[in-house]
Amino acid sequence: MARSAIRIAVVGDVHLRWDDRDVELLDGADYDLVAFVGDLAGYRHDGLGVAASIARLRTAALVIPGNHDGVSLPHLAAETLEQRALARLMGRGQRRRCGDLEAMLGPVPLAGYSLHAVARDGLSVSVIAGRPHSQGGGFFAFSRHLERKYGVRSLEESAKRLCRLVDEAPHGRLIFVAHNGPSGLGARRHDIWGCDFRRAEGDFGDNDLRVAIDHAQRSGKRVLAVVAGHMHHRLKGGGERRWLVEREGVLYVNAARVPRIERDGRRYHVRLDTDGETARAELIAVTA
Ligand SMILES: [Fe+2]
Ligand SMILES: [Fe+2]
Repeated sequence: MARSAIRIAVVGDVHLRWDDRDVELLDGADYDLVAFVGDLAGYRHDGLGVAASIARLRTAALVIPGNHDGVSLPHLAAETLEQRALARLMGRGQRRRCGDLEAMLGPVPLAGYSLHAVARDGLSVSVIAGRPHSQGGGFFAFSRHLERKYGVRSLEESAKRLCRLVDEAPHGRLIFVAHNGPSGLGARRHDIWGCDFRRAEGDFGDNDLRVAIDHAQRSGKRVLAVVAGHMHHRLKGGGERRWLVEREGVLYVNAARVPRIERDGRRYHVRLDTDGETARAELIAVTA
């Protein structure tokens, strides 16, 4: 594909594996946008140092927060156990924590239920950032924060909100960026957003995102790609997850290669190219 295409760097779940060398590498690679699909934080660290480094990018960037971002460990545990009342109590500090994250990110927006644009050589694409902090599956996690900050109280309301963004997008060509991918792409553990941590397996994709993608296609918009992470490539119990799927002309990318920086120094991201008609993705490993 000729370089006249839009080129986006998709950075999968960072989980603290990011430093200023990555800033240098991506700034030197002629990207039009660096899209972080979330989970900057680790279990014990809040990822604010990562955010401060991301703020130094000269290339346009956005970060959609994952289920690890802006949360305390007890809060994350309560959400994972689907203990709604406890999770809402624990979620009290989330707005402040997300504010801290936003402050550290400086000019880089903490995206979610938001519209962005990327353009090059006369080609313009609307980027729709999906539900922030998605944890996957059917449970509406982080409900307190999503309600207070975004006015969204359920997965149904979330789907409506995303469909509205599709309608409001100024361009006919769309790319979705989310923390977790959509449902409908398989229910086996190795599927792109399949569940590998329950014996019964299952589709762990987000239904609200699926509704929005289908709505976009039905309304005549061209969905070029959907990029997300969350469901890590390395599977519980062994094996690797499928990370790239093409379905009905849409390219689905799961960029969550964890650890993002290997012990041998390889640093991963996905290069997404689009000429406005099709999209192509390539896993890039830079040793530096
Ligand atoms: Fe993750
Ligand atoms: Fe995650």
